[in-house]
Amino acid sequence: MWSRRRGLNSGPPPCWPHEIPRWRFQPSFELVYRLSYGGPIFTKYHTNYKPISRTEWNPRYTFIPSSHRNDGVGMKIGIIGAGNLGSSLARGFLKSGTINANDLKISDINEKKLNALASLGMKTTTNNKQLVEDSDVVFIAVKPGMMDSVLKETKNVSSDRLFVSVAAGVSTEFIEKRTKARVIRVMPNICGEVAEMASCYSLGRTAIPEDGELIEQLLNSIGTAFKVDEGLMETVTGLSGSGPAYFYFFMKGLQNAGVELGLPSDIALKLVAQTAKGAGEMAMTHGDLEKLIKNVCTPGGTTIEGVKMLEKGKVEESVEKAVKAAVKRARELLR
Ligand SMILES: NC(=O)c1ccc[n+]([C@@H]2O[C@H](COP(=O)([O-])OP(=O)(O)OC[C@H]3O[C@@H](n4cnc5c(N)ncnc54)[C@H](OP(=O)(O)O)[C@@H]3O)[C@@H](O)[C@H]2O)c1
Repeated sequence: MWSRRRGLNSGPPPCWPHEIPRWRFQPSFELVYRLSYGGPIFTKYHTNYKPISRTEWNPRYTFIPSSHRNDGVGMKIGIIGAGNLGSSLARGFLKSGTINANDLKISDINEKKLNALASLGMKTTTNNKQLVEDSDVVFIAVKPGMMDSVLKETKNVSSDRLFVSVAAGVSTEFIEKRTKARVIRVMPNICGEVAEMASCYSLGRTAIPEDGELIEQLLNSIGTAFKVDEGLMETVTGLSGSGPAYFYFFMKGLQNAGVELGLPSDIALKLVAQTAKGAGEMAMTHGDLEKLIKNVCTPGGTTIEGVKMLEKGKVEESVEKAVKAAVKRARELLR
């Protein structure tokens, strides 16, 4: 019998996606199934395609909302906050095909932000309470300072809901004190929009391991996700949460140099962005950064001269200091 629980009686996947690099994610059988046959993950999870019987279903171990087990409807995902992060998650989920537009709802107090997203087909609302009622999993993507008021608004939620907070510096404990929902904390970054997000997550006290699996699959569908102890979340915040800004900063320097030396600005930007993308892929594939630097720096060649200048400017040291400063601030803000 096919089961949502990873590997349980599920037999071999219909075809293993060898072409997907292993570093990107460890595909579960369910995800392999989706990749093989197409369609959103959650439609296959929760439809009557191969329903899990009531006796098999143990709510302590399997997060399957009863309302969606046999009715042919996909899991409903809600996002509170349609700002930079919330909208990038929504766009990423749609772009990757993980979630159908009609299974995705997003709320915000600002209707203008919602209009842009409504045009992509997802449902929108200004009513957070309604969104929580209509969703099985709710991502909370408001500024940390707004978390308290959003939790107050939605305080009558039942424990069969899963809240996923992406707010920097807000602990699962803080959220759990204010809600009955199960809680997972995620530190994403802004690159979800292009399905290249680096993220980490940790489970709250009441979240069950299958909640973690579910969220890991969702996050992996728009990038690469790792489970970490919550104590490391501030480090992740300063490293990969803030990370895109460090890269943009460095890229700005490269683009400026290209322009000063005669390249049109748009071509310089594309050269820099493609180089960053390629370098990232190479780092993911080969892993050894020292070796990768060495491979480009032919002795007596051109790159080595550039790298010497970076060393003279203590760029590596400055980058380390930047991350440590961001992590320090994240720890100061933690509550
Ligand atoms: N941006 C990043 O790169 C990044 C990375 C990692 C984590 N995060 C986390 O993601 C969260 C959101 O950050 P962001 O950059 O996306 O902020 P943002 O652009 O300000 O988005 C937050 C959105 O929530 C709206 N909002 C405020 N109160 C609300 C309420 N009660 N109900 C519904 N919507 C409400 C805001 O509307 P108004 O603008 O009208 O107030 C805004 O549109 C933060 O907690 C942050 O720590 C962000």
